[in-house]
Amino acid sequence: RRILLINGPNLNLLGKREPHIYGSTTLADVEASARTQASSLGVELETFQSNHEGAIVDRIQEAAGWGPNCLHDRAPKERVSAIIINPGALTHTSVAVRDALLAVDIPFVELHVSNVHAREPFRKHSHLSDRAVAVICGMGVYGYTAAIEFAARHMKV
Ligand code: DQA
Repeated sequence: RRILLINGPNLNLLGKREPHIYGSTTLADVEASARTQASSLGVELETFQSNHEGAIVDRIQEAAGWGPNCLHDRAPKERVSAIIINPGALTHTSVAVRDALLAVDIPFVELHVSNVHAREPFRKHSHLSDRAVAVICGMGVYGYTAAIEFAARHMKV
């Protein structure tokens, strides 16, 4: 029972960037409370943040026990059973992140802190939503709590 929480570009600045849109809670706070919440639900939580598309692709592959590390004779990592991903701007641009998620075939929840439908038109399109188990947006950082609760209770983790 393992969940992987991925945050994409600029989410390392959560709490500092555009607080009127994203609030004042930092990513460190979000990850710490996510960890506590997960353990109280009896699931393991791995967290990963990167500003780099390729690093996110690598991390998704690794979640399936594949990826660059596994091309060598290192023991594959244990497979995660669900992914929660806030892809940041990669939501709207990245076919590579979509392809990685489809390749590993691990069910995922797409999450946005802001309501992407109430902002610029280019944020309305997501390369992931049609394949996500669930999409959360506009709940602020509470979205992370909701996603972990959902993943732990309703996804086969
Ligand atoms: C975001 C929404 C995206 O449009 C934006 O590029 C982000 C954050 C959100 O959490 O609301 O970086 O994913």
